[in-house]
Amino acid sequence: MTFISTSAPGKCILFGEHAVVYGHPAVAVAIDQRITIRIQPSATGIWLLDGGTLNMARNPHIKGLIDKLWPVSEGAPPLSIHIDGNIPRASGLGSSSALSVAFAAALRLARGRWVENEGDSSQNNWAEGFGSSVSGSDAYGESKGFFSQNDQEKMFLLTGENSVDADENAILAHSVEAAAQNGRASPMDSSTCSHGGVVVISDQIESELSYLYRRELSMPDGKQTWHIHELDLGVVSDDVYLVIGSTGVSAPTSKQVAKVANMLKQNPDRMEEIETIGKIARRGIDALICGDYDAVGRTMTENQIMLKSIGVSSPELDALIKAAAPSSLGAKLTGAGGGGCMVALTKNPKITSDAIELAGGRTLISKLGSTGMMINSPNNDAFWTKK
Ligand code: PMV
Repeated sequence: MTFISTSAPGKCILFGEHAVVYGHPAVAVAIDQRITIRIQPSATGIWLLDGGTLNMARNPHIKGLIDKLWPVSEGAPPLSIHIDGNIPRASGLGSSSALSVAFAAALRLARGRWVENEGDSSQNNWAEGFGSSVSGSDAYGESKGFFSQNDQEKMFLLTGENSVDADENAILAHSVEAAAQNGRASPMDSSTCSHGGVVVISDQIESELSYLYRRELSMPDGKQTWHIHELDLGVVSDDVYLVIGSTGVSAPTSKQVAKVANMLKQNPDRMEEIETIGKIARRGIDALICGDYDAVGRTMTENQIMLKSIGVSSPELDALIKAAAPSSLGAKLTGAGGGGCMVALTKNPKITSDAIELAGGRTLISKLGSTGMMINSPNNDAFWTKK
């Protein structure tokens, strides 16, 4: 039976968490752990997830993408979806973004896409266009111009790899992440999981990096704008690894962000510490560009000192970081803190991983900057296209 399979990596933050909320740059890297999705038309005529009935309410990212890309009301058939992967859930490693990116790509392949051909086939324009709005609107709705496909001189169908695009997957994933999180989500996870490599997000254009795009989102507390960049690592030294250690303690990102906001409200002078994290992140970016991993590690450790000072580390994180320190180039918490994960940069992944496990953490080992969204299936002809 025909099937489509796609995958996307998780991510971890190397520099700048929390300060990014106040406009400073943050650096995220795609990790080797991935989510893989496989879809095929459902043989039973009902939506299936891993063999059981798909519960749309419990799977908001999946539902959001079906609403945008797969118009059941117009005859798009129910699908059977399988999810596989090794990104731990709810641990700040981007599992929901990786799922959203991979599923967006799979749905896009499963229906192909219409593009406007304005004479020059190298200049095909996407027929729909997206905004990172959180609404569940059909991506092919009239306002997006899809209906002009009848004008065959202007429109034609792309199938297979040509019908997906990393920017578009990132924006689709961002919009369903925001919808699943009460309208709030930064594009850091969705962009890193879609593009792979190393992604830098900032409230300004960073001139030393390659610019990808600008993202805007109207959130409950106002419109936010982010500038997303790619950082080219060049030749990554073969012997440098990330070891990610999970404390097993769950600490919601929203609570940690609110904690920092309260601290700043009570002591506005402490914005200096946030600014210091911003400066450290810029030094981290320079060290990554130069491929100076000793400096990258040192800068991570400095970043951790400041994260601890603003109150987002925890005894469990401190214990894992301390255990990793002797065998690594540097270590810090990654993500929101308070629990969740830490990350160490090391040339001795086995020794660092053992030390973290001995201190009570569960570990993952990854190279820096894994490949972004990938198509794994050999044939990717559309299952269904609008007549
Ligand atoms: O825990 P994560 O990976 O979702 O990262 C949170 C990063 C923060 O800077 C703390 C919050 C944010 O929105 O950027």
